[in-house]
Amino acid sequence: MRKDFGPQTWVFPMPVLIIGTYNENGEPNAMNAAWGGTYDYNQIMICLSSHQTTDNIRLKKALTVSFATVETITASDYVGIVSQKKEKDKIAKSGLKYEKAKHVDAPIFTDYPLTLECEVVDIINEGEGGGNIIAKIVNASADESVLTDGKVDPKKINFVSFDPINSEYRKIGETVALAFREGMKLK
Ligand SMILES: Cc1cc2nc3c(=O)[nH]c(=O)nc-3n(C[C@H](O)[C@H](O)[C@H](O)COP(=O)(O)O)c2cc1C
Repeated sequence: MRKDFGPQTWVFPMPVLIIGTYNENGEPNAMNAAWGGTYDYNQIMICLSSHQTTDNIRLKKALTVSFATVETITASDYVGIVSQKKEKDKIAKSGLKYEKAKHVDAPIFTDYPLTLECEVVDIINEGEGGGNIIAKIVNASADESVLTDGKVDPKKINFVSFDPINSEYRKIGETVALAFREGMKLK
C-alpha cells in the first residue's frame, strides 16, 4: 500500500544554494535557495520570489552559487530568514567572508568551498517581483583545502541537502555505488 500526499515539491535531494550578488552600491548580499538546480548543460535555474537578491540579479545579470555545508549551516540559514531589504548589516552579521568573483560581477563567499560563477541568460515566468532565473555557468572554483590530486574531492566537503518534508538540513552521506557501473550487474 502507498499513501498519497497531493502535489508536494518533494524533489530529493533539494540543494541548499547560497546565491551571491551585488546591489547598485556594490554591496554584497547572500540568500539561501532550495528551489533550484540543473537546467541544461552548463546552465542552472533558480526559482526566486521578490527579494533583494532578485533585484540585484535583474540589475547586474550576474550571481554566484555556492553550496551550504555543515560548517556554514548557521550563516546559511540566517541568509535565508533575513532580508537585506530590512537588515542592512546582513552580511556583517552573517559572519561570511567574501571577495569579488573573477569572471562575473558578483561576490564569492569564501567560507563555501565550491562556487559557480554565473551570468543570467533569461528570466522566465516573471510575476509579482519574482521569476525563474536561468543562468549560464562561466566558471567553477574550489578552495584548495577540498582538492585531492588537483581535483575537487566531494568527500572533503560536508554538503547539506534541504529536506522539504520536515524543513531540515541533512548531511549528504557516503558513496553507495558507482554511477553507470552498478546497473551493469543486471545487464
Ligand atoms: C531553506 C530555505 C530555502 C529557501 N529557498 C528559497 C527559494 O528557493 N526561492 C526563494 O525565492 N526564496 C527562498 N528562501 C527565502 C530567501 O532566502 C529569504 O527570503 C531571504 O531572506 C532573501 O534575502 P534577500 O532579500 O536579502 O535577498 C529560502 C529560505 C530558506 C531558509
